[in-house]
Amino acid sequence: MFIKVLGAAAGGGYPQWNCNHPNSRLARLKTSNAVPRTQSSIAVSSDKKKWFIFNASPDLRQQLWDNPELMPSPDDPLRYSPIMGVILTNADVDHTAGLINLRESQKFNLYATNRVLDVIGKNSIFNVLNPKFVKKLPIKLANILELNDTEDNFSGISIKPFSVPGKVALWLEDESKGKNFGSVEEDTIALEVTGANNKKFFYIPACASIPEWLLTKLDNSELVFFDGTLWQDDEMIKQNVGIKTGKRMGHISMSGEEGSIEILNKINIKRKVFIHINTTNPALLEDSNERKIAKENGWEIAYDTMEIKL
Ligand code: MLT
Ligand code: MN
Repeated sequence: MFIKVLGAAAGGGYPQWNCNHPNSRLARLKTSNAVPRTQSSIAVSSDKKKWFIFNASPDLRQQLWDNPELMPSPDDPLRYSPIMGVILTNADVDHTAGLINLRESQKFNLYATNRVLDVIGKNSIFNVLNPKFVKKLPIKLANILELNDTEDNFSGISIKPFSVPGKVALWLEDESKGKNFGSVEEDTIALEVTGANNKKFFYIPACASIPEWLLTKLDNSELVFFDGTLWQDDEMIKQNVGIKTGKRMGHISMSGEEGSIEILNKINIKRKVFIHINTTNPALLEDSNERKIAKENGWEIAYDTMEIKL
């Protein structure tokens, strides 16, 4: 199974368009210690010919350009895409806006929970996905789902979805619905992905906390992509670039006693990769102390075009 990181940054990308925080400024200077990243997405394939995209980033067009195997090749028909399907783990802008790039009557399968399919269905801009060509297939929690190509042949890749702590997408928050803004289980899911060779990995780009059951699930796994949004829960507030904590945004932080580094140190994971990294996170900088700490604890920081073979 082949995995490509199309985009390693959180919503807004790195550097975020309106962010003038030193981290973002360094990325604009194009220094080698601050490598820009597009918004959160990975692509998975059994054969490097047919691909499934996990989350459709607003930067999808650039991501295709950066990963030519995701574009038609000279031998393909006049209209063709190697993208057989798109799987959504939530309805965040950074995970859904890229669907709009996939318009114009091209066949692909769109997989998401009924909750996410429903909000996409209600938003008429997504009508650009012609239902004659785009099959919407509901993901049912805890059920194994085989990913098929556009001719309905099994790709060799299957997913097992499960709900993780989190919240409804920012653009769907309803303050009248209390503390968690009306969030339900199907708003934030993670995926256990299995390839034709039976190798498995976990894809968890958003997660608000790590309960005991999740630790048990991830123990002894080969590869985990995990929510790396913030280094510190209050880093945006402390640095005067925002008013929200990570907890408020539905993201656990990397550092601290309750952070993902410390908690996931309790279990054994062969390869740990942070993904969905915010423009303010100092671990983005290759020479930062925070990067060193993450590395010492066995973590890699995902970057665009990173490739992993399982
Ligand atoms: C998030 O991950 O919290 C969202 O992508 C935020 C956003 O929509 O900007
Ligand atoms: Mn996001």
